[in-house]
Amino acid sequence: MRQPLHRRLGLHRAAGGWSGGWSGRWSGGAAPGDARSDDQGEESPWGPAPVIEVRSLVKSYGHGDAAVRALGGAPQPATGEPAGVDLLVEQGDMVAVMGSSGSGKSTLMNILGCLDVPTAGRYLLDGIDVGGLDEHQLSLVRNRKIGFVFQSFNLVPRTPALAQVELPLAYAGVKAAERRRRALAALTLVGLADRVEHRPNELSGGQQQRVAVARALVTAPAMLLADEPTGNLDSQSTEDVLGVIDRLNASGRTVVLITHEDEVARHAKRVLRLVDGQIVSDVRQAPVDGPPPALRDPAAFAAAHPHADPAGAAGGPHTGPRLPQPPSPHALTGGTR
Ligand SMILES: Nc1ncnc2c1ncn2[C@@H]1O[C@H](COP(=O)(O)OP(=O)(O)OP(=O)(O)O)[C@@H](O)[C@H]1O
Ligand SMILES: [Mg+2]
Repeated sequence: MRQPLHRRLGLHRAAGGWSGGWSGRWSGGAAPGDARSDDQGEESPWGPAPVIEVRSLVKSYGHGDAAVRALGGAPQPATGEPAGVDLLVEQGDMVAVMGSSGSGKSTLMNILGCLDVPTAGRYLLDGIDVGGLDEHQLSLVRNRKIGFVFQSFNLVPRTPALAQVELPLAYAGVKAAERRRRALAALTLVGLADRVEHRPNELSGGQQQRVAVARALVTAPAMLLADEPTGNLDSQSTEDVLGVIDRLNASGRTVVLITHEDEVARHAKRVLRLVDGQIVSDVRQAPVDGPPPALRDPAAFAAAHPHADPAGAAGGPHTGPRLPQPPSPHALTGGTR
């Protein structure tokens, strides 16, 4: 049996999460949800810890006069320091991040995905303070906690869909037969059971993106992080992919997606807008603990949004069978693979 992830990372439990941390300015005490047991999976009296907890996050590029503050806003007159970004995302939420070009969306996404580190502030991902982790530890966290979906699919050329989806399981050390079983299940969930041997150039754009979604979900990550997942798709394929993401969220998976498109943001339970590296609006469109908007009342959603495809969103022919409840994200740390 493998060790829990926090032990493999060499972390110890500390107030506010697992120890580590950028030497940021955040000095907040324990927040609701911080009381997590050493074996995890145990909820605090306030419910599960947020999947994302970001405090006073600042990201600057360059130095001196050439410095660009991508995230965190302008210095405040009183302190001379930027306010920074604060953000809590609860388990089961589906959050769209919108904003004009240059507003800081990709910068935020890269930090949330542990692909980049902030200049200041603190980030707890599923209870783990990722600041101060080394590159190897961060790659473990990325593999176990986050499923990425990119605008350009990022599939491996000339490789069948099944092998693409098995790949993150191979990195996680899962044995061949189990890899195959899980990858087949993930491809079935995205409606591609009949395309497992197809290579990217033998699949439509929407099908390629659904392979990418299967690859992102096969490790049962705490969070699906998608940067413009429908940016390269036509409207039907967009609805197919959104239908899969809707159903993943309805079955408990936390989703954060960046989008320019209002059509996509309408699928989210919560919409954040960034301007000049700061969150200027935060609108809840549906409760965290219910289905996403397209699945709450599919007929009403379709009537309000004529381009949407409630059949696809609700589990129609494009999207395959109903998704099972995913394991708790904390089960990932239990070392059962
Ligand atoms: N590596 C970098 N070096 C210097 N400045 C950068 C770097 N990356 C981003 N920036 C700057 O940070 C700001 C935010 O960039 P970011 O890529 O996060 O924007 P975005 O909201 O994702 O935009 P888009 O919608 O065009 O993708 C921009 O002003 C950008 O020029
Ligand atoms: Mg961007």
